[in-house]
Amino acid sequence: MTAFSISALSAKHDRNKFFCGFEPIDKWCRRNSLSHNDKGQCKVFVATAGDDIVAGIYSLSIQALPRKKGIKYHLDNVPGIYFDNLGVTEKCRGNKLGTTMMVDAFHRTIAISQHVGVHCLWLTAIDEATCEFYRRLGFERTKPRGRSSTDMFISRKDIEAALAP
Ligand SMILES: CC(C)(COP(=O)(O)OP(=O)(O)OC[C@H]1O[C@@H](n2cnc3c(N)ncnc32)[C@H](O)[C@@H]1OP(=O)(O)O)[C@@H](O)C(=O)NCCC(=O)NCCS
Repeated sequence: MTAFSISALSAKHDRNKFFCGFEPIDKWCRRNSLSHNDKGQCKVFVATAGDDIVAGIYSLSIQALPRKKGIKYHLDNVPGIYFDNLGVTEKCRGNKLGTTMMVDAFHRTIAISQHVGVHCLWLTAIDEATCEFYRRLGFERTKPRGRSSTDMFISRKDIEAALAP
């Protein structure tokens, strides 16, 4: 099995060969990920396999999850870390790299929560099938009144439980 390492994106990484098949993420990886990272819009993490070619990518940012999106909480805005832009380049599929990158995001969420109040890690899945991928990783769907949504979250407590030895 290929060994991957995950690190913060920098200018040394080759983003041009990345192809996960979901055009918005492919374009974002090639065109915007580094500038968004450098401007502090989000922090981008990439997986590589012994070289600098991007095999996987995701981003994190601080974004409150609005309670009206359908999460039970005592504040209107739930303190959260937003997970976005997950992609694994097609030829690297089958290595559990998507799962590995989410576990990496779990660790980073817990590290951030030592310094900043964090109730949950949350995301918006691109479709129903992908919701199932995230559900298997411990995410649950928010329940907005009167409409369906692909917003999902996992609480900090559940992340800690998932990472417990
Ligand atoms: C979603 C994605 C990142 C998963 O990456 P991956 O490296 O294939 O993920 P893993 O190998 O860790 O997959 C774990 C399991 O989830 C399944 N799975 C992977 N992608 C899935 C998807 N889109 N929908 C449902 N199940 C999926 C795998 O088949 C695997 O199942 P198994 O444990 O029974 O073998 C990858 O398919 C991808 O880049 N897709 C295009 C971009 C995208 O949809 N991003 C999500 C944005 S919300």
